[in-house]
Amino acid sequence: MKPYTLIAPAKINLYLEIIGDRLDGYHELVMILQSIELADRLEIRPNGTQHIRLHCDHPQVPLDATNLAYRAAQLMIQEFPTAFANYGGIDITLDKRIPVAAGLAGGSTNAAAILVGLDLMWELGLTLPALRRLGEKLGSDVPFCIGGGTAIATGRGEKLDPIQDLDNLWVVLAKYNSIAVSTPWAYQTYKKQFVETYIRDHGEVLSRSSEVHSGPFVQAITQKNGVKIGELIHNDLEKIVLPEYPKVAQLRDILQQLGGLGTMMSGSGPTVFTLCESKIEAETIKKQAKEMINDPDLEFWVTQLSSSGIQVE
Ligand code: C5P
Repeated sequence: MKPYTLIAPAKINLYLEIIGDRLDGYHELVMILQSIELADRLEIRPNGTQHIRLHCDHPQVPLDATNLAYRAAQLMIQEFPTAFANYGGIDITLDKRIPVAAGLAGGSTNAAAILVGLDLMWELGLTLPALRRLGEKLGSDVPFCIGGGTAIATGRGEKLDPIQDLDNLWVVLAKYNSIAVSTPWAYQTYKKQFVETYIRDHGEVLSRSSEVHSGPFVQAITQKNGVKIGELIHNDLEKIVLPEYPKVAQLRDILQQLGGLGTMMSGSGPTVFTLCESKIEAETIKKQAKEMINDPDLEFWVTQLSSSGIQVE
């Protein structure tokens, strides 16, 4: 049985609107999700044991069931016990390039890679919708990470409608290594500050206004209108994260001043990105921001938007 190497791209949120809370504790969202070229590599190899073993030399990556990739392998074993009995355990070697706890779906895309890789290794022949249903059990972003590209995500984030791929733009990403934001904290704080206040004042869940806001955005994507896209990018979680993390807010302000099509925090942060029309523009903004902030804790990446989800190398 041959090993497989999988490329697992990160994602950014071009649009994240919270339109209400849900009985299951999650929030009802309208998002536009976008894959980027920045990616992790995962190799999966049968190990002749009955165990999953995860190897990664990144100090912030756990190697047990708190890692979503490990949980993805556990889920596959649970769902396909006959295949597991036939093929045995696996070694997963993770080459971590996507920053951890960054709002870039690093853990989710690793889990997506394990689902796709074990489907191939165990010759299960699962369809994309079947893989996505498995992904939903692991996390809200996993279904998107499997197929990637550009998509409208609703519900918890798991209901996906693909739209025209937006792979012609570039992006500068910036993240302070020492700052990590807890996604549950960001959503729970949003709920306390906005959703519960809204319900108290209006006696109902938040207005379902998303179509009004995301409609022009979808149109801008369809027209590949970079300037409009840059104007319309939006993330409700900035209202929570930026006041709590002034360094991230300052980074966002500086990047915004330096130009590009638009600047925003991705997901629950703390990564901030600027969309750019070209690689040269992105590299120039990165250089200027580095000179202005000059902090060894701050890391930058220049990468292109991507139309790919999980790829087999
Ligand atoms: O689905 P996932 O495990 O990635 O979500 C992480 C956390 O983010 C959830 O536990 C929840 O607190 C919050 N969340 C939310 N509404 C969503 C997605 C995530 O409240 N639609």
